[in-house]
Amino acid sequence: MKQLETERLILRPFQDNDLDRIYAILSHPDIWVHDPGRPRTFEETRSFLIFKDGAYHNARFGQMAVVRKSDEAIIGYCGLQLLLLDHGIFKSPEVEMFFALDRAEWGQGYISEAGHEIIRYGFEDLRLRRIVSTAAIENRRSINLMRRLGMHLVSDPFEPEWVVGSIENPLLHDEATTPLTLTTVQE
Ligand SMILES: CC(C)(COP(=O)(O)OP(=O)(O)OC[C@H]1O[C@@H](n2cnc3c(N)ncnc32)[C@H](O)[C@@H]1OP(=O)(O)O)[C@@H](O)C(=O)NCCC(=O)NCCS
Repeated sequence: MKQLETERLILRPFQDNDLDRIYAILSHPDIWVHDPGRPRTFEETRSFLIFKDGAYHNARFGQMAVVRKSDEAIIGYCGLQLLLLDHGIFKSPEVEMFFALDRAEWGQGYISEAGHEIIRYGFEDLRLRRIVSTAAIENRRSINLMRRLGMHLVSDPFEPEWVVGSIENPLLHDEATTPLTLTTVQE
């Protein structure tokens, strides 16, 4: 994923020396109160970064550091990842937007700003059909953020204590949503 830019922020892939800073952000208990309910350890943070970095190299999109332009501080992360959404009797492959922000920076619209840019990138550059986001139903800030980003919210079809937000790409037309037309390969 290339570097993205908004009025106040740079969104860029993580670098090796970002680990200490991202651990400081992720070790605040409020970040993980809904999922998984406890702060990540240093080793879990390292694995998380390596895992997401692998996803970036495989799929050409992934996690990015959110860097504030005014002081060049990393204040959070956000990005896109593949998600198999469980509908109970079938699953659908989706692209999910995820995000977290340093506890000290909540309430200033930073992730809304980053999220709008990720959606623009996903729709205009990647030509994604849809972007989804998921959050526990008590995660009020995440759910408000999804609304602010223009997502349509429904209960998770399989886990009603979770909410799924989704936004469709307005740049695509009907042909992008019709099934593949397959012709027989001649031997
Ligand atoms: C989810 C999370 C990133 C939301 O952070 P946030 O700061 O509330 O999100 P936003 O960037 O959208 O900011 C919105 C807030 O800034 C305010 N704001 C100030 N200036 C603003 C602006 N220019 N634009 C939008 N909102 C602005 C809004 O009023 C809102 O505040 P309020 O909720 O007190 O009314 C944060 O709570 C978090 O890191 N949570 C833990 C991790 C997590 O749950 N991740 C999601 C799991 S899927």
